[in-house]
Amino acid sequence: MENLPFFTMDDFDFNNSYVYLRIDINSPINPITGEIMDNSRLKSYAKTIEELSRSKLVITAHQGRPGENDFISLNNHARFLSNILNRDIEFIDSLFGHDVRDSIDKMKPGDIIMLENTRFYSEEISINPDKFDIMENTNIIRNLSRFFNYYIIDAFGTIHRPQTSLIGFKNSGPMIAGRLMEYEIKMINQFKYSDLRPKIAILGGSKISDAIKVSKSFFDNNIVDYIIYGGVVANILVWAKGYNIGKKNRDFIINNNKNYKNIMEISRYILEKYSNKIILPEDFILNPSGRHININENIPDDELLADIGMDSILKFEEYIKDAKNIFINGPMGMYEISPYSLGTREILNSVAMNGGMKLIGGGHTLNALNKFELSKYMNYISTGGGALINYLSGDSIPVIDALIENKKIFEGVKHGR
Ligand code: 3PG
Repeated sequence: MENLPFFTMDDFDFNNSYVYLRIDINSPINPITGEIMDNSRLKSYAKTIEELSRSKLVITAHQGRPGENDFISLNNHARFLSNILNRDIEFIDSLFGHDVRDSIDKMKPGDIIMLENTRFYSEEISINPDKFDIMENTNIIRNLSRFFNYYIIDAFGTIHRPQTSLIGFKNSGPMIAGRLMEYEIKMINQFKYSDLRPKIAILGGSKISDAIKVSKSFFDNNIVDYIIYGGVVANILVWAKGYNIGKKNRDFIINNNKNYKNIMEISRYILEKYSNKIILPEDFILNPSGRHININENIPDDELLADIGMDSILKFEEYIKDAKNIFINGPMGMYEISPYSLGTREILNSVAMNGGMKLIGGGHTLNALNKFELSKYMNYISTGGGALINYLSGDSIPVIDALIENKKIFEGVKHGR
């Protein structure tokens, strides 16, 4: 196995120590019941936590984004994780303060505490990472750093976010990649550095900012030969190409992306420069009417583009069939609702049938794979979505950069196991 340029859990002995563990258990949440719909990310931390069974372990994580339906407490996540590990986990509904301090002070080796959603605190997302002295002076870092001997960052799914709980402890003590992070990077590198072509990406879902920005890097750095687009990511490209996608679809993009003008600009740039590598849908299924529509028909203002149509499925399958390396991130449409699940199911099906390397990312893709019982056909299922595409794009990754810098600072304190 390759050597990684940062500390791993092999480098230290964590027994009896206070260990901070940042994980990514951001999960799809049922918008009606508020229940966790898929516990795959939670399960992926079993190995890391198992190895820390004689530490005083404090876990942090985030869920959702402010203002969105899935921006909820980690209370249920703690319960789920406790069931998965068969270990007691004390959940504290804050991130720092008296209750946190008192509970951490009383910890014994083997105890696990989980703190509240880091994004409930504006300091988590609002600090400019270039002003690192300000980040280090936040309540999060000042209050928590007094406790810990080690900082294990295992939140592979969030390595592309320069947020306080992820990179802010860079100067506080040894920062170490957890077992999941180590495994993810080793597996994804196999895809990233493979020379077998055609190499294609399939990008869908609703996180258009990440997907459009990395598309540019993917093409500029010749990482893939084609990108197939579905979901809202396709909608902005279709819009940027000059088609009328209807008011409801435009509003969805505008309301969920403050930077949509910038995304639009990048979309136009890639469409112009890489038009023969961008594979877009040509027909759609509308919600709520369930009607089929072609891209060049006028899309009604009160309908959502809820799935790709059959012509698009057949077109996409032609590219998937010939690919030697495929990675897919994000569904083609509203796969959770059965009249709109066909596009996602068929595309995942043809990826599953391909005999090449198949790398999968994103919480919703994972959920869809499980729903359609296709997981077993994939070579590697990453817990990362945006993180995975950013890592593959070759752009610099804030958490990886922080881990590398930290190793340079703390190399001297390393204790071999
Ligand atoms: C994810 O699910 O992609 C990660 O948890 C990051 O979430 P974010 O896109 O809201 O930062």
